[in-house]
Amino acid sequence: MAELKTKLGRLELQNPIVTASGTFGYGTEFTDFVDLDRIGAITLKSVTMEAKIGNIPPRIAETPSGMMNSIGLENNGIQDLIKRRLPALEGYKNLKVIANIAGHSIEENIECARILEKEKRVDALELNISCPNVAAGGLSFCFDLPVVEKLISKVRDEYSGPLIVKLSASVPDIVKLAEVSIKAGAEILSLINTIPAMEVDITSRKLFFKRGVAGLSGPAIRPIALKAIYDVASHFKIPIIGIGGVSSIEDVLKFLIIGADAVSIGMMNFINPKIAETLIDELDEYLNTNKLTLAELTLQS
Ligand SMILES: Cc1cc2nc3c(=O)[nH]c(=O)nc-3n(C[C@H](O)[C@H](O)[C@H](O)COP(=O)(O)O)c2cc1C
Repeated sequence: MAELKTKLGRLELQNPIVTASGTFGYGTEFTDFVDLDRIGAITLKSVTMEAKIGNIPPRIAETPSGMMNSIGLENNGIQDLIKRRLPALEGYKNLKVIANIAGHSIEENIECARILEKEKRVDALELNISCPNVAAGGLSFCFDLPVVEKLISKVRDEYSGPLIVKLSASVPDIVKLAEVSIKAGAEILSLINTIPAMEVDITSRKLFFKRGVAGLSGPAIRPIALKAIYDVASHFKIPIIGIGGVSSIEDVLKFLIIGADAVSIGMMNFINPKIAETLIDELDEYLNTNKLTLAELTLQS
């Protein structure tokens, strides 16, 4: 066995394979296919204070090399997460659990962080700054750097565990966004979230999604994710969880080489629910066969 242990600052994973928020439910839905205790970490679906029913269907559309979604952060609220979802993960001692919060105001995020601070089964908190800030007319937090700074520092005040900030690549300057996030207290950055995109229904001649815009994910966004990781990793010494279109061991290697310290699997969980476990085995085999360590997977000039 190769050494797969991965340190993301204070967050220590048994291996660098993570599952992305919204694509792996609450973990337990996948236990028929996967031994959860072998995965580095799972990121839970974004949670809000109150339950949210999400957007009116259609909510997903297939694209030539990916999918678009307009789920609308459907979830049963933070109390359900605490009472039902976290206890179900109690038995998995090697698995790290990342809770993801997506409040619609700074106050809602503060409240979520304060509540999750008390939850022992939560090993790290991921703050989704791509979701709409109601106080700013629904514009994503990540487009407003002073608000990002305030949001992260306030959440930082409430949550003492490892704090991950999830960045979007659709901002004008992701390096600046990373800088502000780090200054405000992010210990780990995860990137990228889905890319805003659109679809048209030619029969009705209407926009396919009721809200117009949906989030594109999957292999189509992989090169965008690679550039975002490269840009951030070449400016800052901060642990990075790379996300975006990973579908094979080659993709995992590309992400690690370009600067990610861990790799998160999103849309591909829908196509192959075993993929996270398979990628762990394939990474192990690759390192053994090539007599390499994880630390040696770096970009050569
Ligand atoms: C159906 C679906 C639901 C998602 N829900 C969330 C969410 O609740 N919170 C979040 O931070 N990201 C969410 N994402 C974004 C993913 O976590 C990930 O950042 C993105 O899909 C890019 O990775 P991928 O190309 O491997 O899917 C969702 C993605 C999909 C496809």
